[in-house]
Amino acid sequence: MLKIGIIGAGNIAKTFIEAVIKGNVNVTLEAIASRDILKAIEYKNLYSFKKAYGSYQDLYNDFEVDLIYVATPHSFHYEQMLQIIDHNKHVICEKPFTLNSKQAEEVFKKAKEKNLFVMEALWTRFLPTIKELKELINKGIIGEIEKVEANFCFKTNLDQNHRLRNLNLGGGALLDLGVYTITFANIFLGKPESISSKVVMDEQTGVDIDEEIVFKYKDNKLAILNSSIIKDMPSVGTIYGEKGYVLVENFHQTELAKIYNYNNEIIGSIEHPHSVNGFEYEILSAIDSIEKGRIEDPHIPHSETIKILKQMDDIRQSWNLIYPQE
Ligand SMILES: NC(=O)c1ccc[n+]([C@@H]2O[C@H](COP(=O)([O-])OP(=O)(O)OC[C@H]3O[C@@H](n4cnc5c(N)ncnc54)[C@H](OP(=O)(O)O)[C@@H]3O)[C@@H](O)[C@H]2O)c1
Repeated sequence: MLKIGIIGAGNIAKTFIEAVIKGNVNVTLEAIASRDILKAIEYKNLYSFKKAYGSYQDLYNDFEVDLIYVATPHSFHYEQMLQIIDHNKHVICEKPFTLNSKQAEEVFKKAKEKNLFVMEALWTRFLPTIKELKELINKGIIGEIEKVEANFCFKTNLDQNHRLRNLNLGGGALLDLGVYTITFANIFLGKPESISSKVVMDEQTGVDIDEEIVFKYKDNKLAILNSSIIKDMPSVGTIYGEKGYVLVENFHQTELAKIYNYNNEIIGSIEHPHSVNGFEYEILSAIDSIEKGRIEDPHIPHSETIKILKQMDDIRQSWNLIYPQE
């Protein structure tokens, strides 16, 4: 049975652990590492890890751990993954995988040399509702896709030090939320021919806080993508085809997609309630891939992670948004 370690005893680590425990995933929760040993011990006791470490390095040095889940802010992912791979362990890393495509290419190259599995935990790609919808659209349920819209926007009241507003931690709406809207467009329309955008930058922190991104494709197809940490919008993905349209509720973590014709009559729906919280699908898939000896997961091949990061690189370049680690 694979033995998992986690770095970063924070918010998303809890969601991951809950999916492992309640989803009866066939792995051992071997060790949790935090910069603060007390926090690590708290997680160990709460979730029955075998060990708690007060430094990430101690976890890397644990010979018993096979796989590490990286649950830290974006700006640390690159260095941490390189160290983990140096210690011959497989990696599942939270989104966005790295700050830019160049960093991702280096991580994947190193993992390939060592024959280790590495995956970006972009859970949307693993959701059964998204997978079934893609199949139905390929079969022509709404005809040829003409336009995609996706909004992932919420009003935050975060202090300037929160990771979303902190340039040093890879803050901003694009890398945190835009990664999902861009992924949604790529799943259904592929790579755009050109990209344009409008952005609001936070003058105090230097991060992007509100943006509309437009992808243009051949045959006049468009994707309109909103991400924001200062405004609320419903988190909906909409796919418009020649014969009808699909509303994907909470598209990045969806359990329900409704298919309509242009008389606004429902002509179908896809519903897959999560068995736990939606993280179970990506975790099960990663474990299956590792057990089969793969170094990448078929739901999110390395090339897809790089492709999305390149699009975000281009968008950030047009905004002159550079992170200190770049
Ligand atoms: N898939 C999803 O739906 C989803 C949702 C939310 C976030 N995420 C991703 O998960 C990652 C972590 O997000 P989060 O919301 O869990 O973040 P968070 O709670 O703010 O931070 C996670 C942990 O990172 C560690 N950390 C290490 N160095 C740090 C530093 N200098 N400043 C702050 N924290 C530091 C801390 O753990 P220790 O103190 O224990 O060392 C912290 O508890 C991000 O990349 C984010 O994009 C994914």
